[in-house]
Amino acid sequence: MTDSRPAVAIVLAAGQGTRMKSATAKVLHTMCGRTMLGHVLAAVEPLQAHQTLVVVGHGRDQVIDGLASSNPDAKPVVQAEQNGTGHAVRLAMEAAGDVTGAVVVVPGDAPLLTPGTIASLLQRHLETLAAATLLTARLPDPTGYGRIVRDPDGHVTGIVEEKDADDRVRQIDEVGTSVYVFDAPKLRTALARLTTDNAQAEEYLTDVVGLLVGDGEVVASVVAEDHRETLGVNDRVQLAAARRLMRDRIVEHWMREGVTITDPQTTWMGVRVRLEPDVTIHQNTQLHGATVIRSGAVVGPDCTLTDTHVGPGATVVKAHCIGAEIGPDADVGPYTYLRPGTRLGARAKAGAYVEMKAAQVGDDTKVPHLSYVGDAEIGERSNIGAATVFVNYDGVEKHRTTVGDDVRIGSDTMLVAPVEVGDGAYTAAGSVITDEVPPGAIGVARERQRNIEGWVERRRAGTQSAESARMALERRAQQQSGSKQVTIEGETGGHEIDKDEQGDNE
Ligand code: UD1
Ligand code: CA
Repeated sequence: MTDSRPAVAIVLAAGQGTRMKSATAKVLHTMCGRTMLGHVLAAVEPLQAHQTLVVVGHGRDQVIDGLASSNPDAKPVVQAEQNGTGHAVRLAMEAAGDVTGAVVVVPGDAPLLTPGTIASLLQRHLETLAAATLLTARLPDPTGYGRIVRDPDGHVTGIVEEKDADDRVRQIDEVGTSVYVFDAPKLRTALARLTTDNAQAEEYLTDVVGLLVGDGEVVASVVAEDHRETLGVNDRVQLAAARRLMRDRIVEHWMREGVTITDPQTTWMGVRVRLEPDVTIHQNTQLHGATVIRSGAVVGPDCTLTDTHVGPGATVVKAHCIGAEIGPDADVGPYTYLRPGTRLGARAKAGAYVEMKAAQVGDDTKVPHLSYVGDAEIGERSNIGAATVFVNYDGVEKHRTTVGDDVRIGSDTMLVAPVEVGDGAYTAAGSVITDEVPPGAIGVARERQRNIEGWVERRRAGTQSAESARMALERRAQQQSGSKQVTIEGETGGHEIDKDEQGDNE
């Protein structure tokens, strides 16, 4: 009885990645929401190997830390000196113990490998009862890769590294991908016989193939259907190429699931993003983390959304949102910054040049323009006038502001937290509100306007302003002569606020 689950999956990730020229270990470079190593582990995970081992070497502290948080089931195996891929697998097999069954080997720098390809390689291996089964690829340019050498009957006889190859072998366009399935005991005996007698003075895993063939064992192979899937990333140009391919894959997946993506070339999204049918994504949009977009929502152009939930039917244009929750049919943008803890209710609005943080905004409430809303709770159907600031920080601590239902906050109101504005209350434009405004009251906290008549003519005599003022006053005097005389001077002294003075804006 054979177990269809492999005994061991080994990911090779100890190499230096010199050509990345990076302080970050190569396999920790990211694309589409995961590290390269994370992508490889995700491709291997569905096989449900009994043990998953990651051979680490260069930058191993970083890699081990990364594994502990993202793939705690994968066990690191330290390869202190990188003596070759064969040496790496030998150490992993020592760590695996005395196992039998299938051993899957994948390189940590091939992030485009799919679970399907690895699973079919394993299936072929189990069907053929092979000692080793190789994934190969036919490349338009095989330079740099190990070449697959076959006998006249087409059976694999060995893999020859570029550096050890003669001209005849270099003509071969079928290459090894460093993806293999081995029979554990046969792998172990072959690894014990590896030498460093080659151009790079390393123990080559590829030599295991020739050794097994020499033993008369069955070596099977599968040619990758799409060679791009086996692309190895050695520098940042290849990383960008791999990222584009993965982007295409993700975007195509969602289009087939019913999402309209008007410009796939400028739309980027990570593997954890979830989209519902009849979502529309416009150009220059990036969706990161665990972003979710519900049916009927329109996002873009020019949006960057991270860990953000967009409700059904909502519209988000030119916005940068992190950890925000946008309610059904809500309206965000353009030029809007929603920070963690923002929760917009149904049909709520966060308009142009509005920033929000830890702000709960009730259903049908609008913050249309030029405002900062931080550490706040706003009820339903309220309107926050332009240029309102929720003044939440006293230089030491953050404080909260509560605004009720059906409130009208006048333009340019400073709400100095902690403070509360009751249901149905108003604030006068330009007020600095430091004390509670009870339900139904208007809070007025500003100086009354005082005009000093004739000031410009006296103090700025000879300027164009003085001249314009003189002419305007003359015209006014002419209009008024003949009609009833009206006083244009003096204060009313009254403090009753009328609607115009309240001055919010829709
Ligand atoms: C290897 C193969 C080559 C194949 C190519 C496919 C060998 C000798 N050659 O070449 O036939 O065409 O992959 O991409 O196997 N690693 C370790 N420890 C080491 C050395 C390497 O863990 O001591 C890891 C690397 O981090 C990498 C993988 O093994 O993830 C492959 O190593 P790399 O040096 O990139 O091998 P290639 O020269 O690409
Ligand atoms: Ca490589």
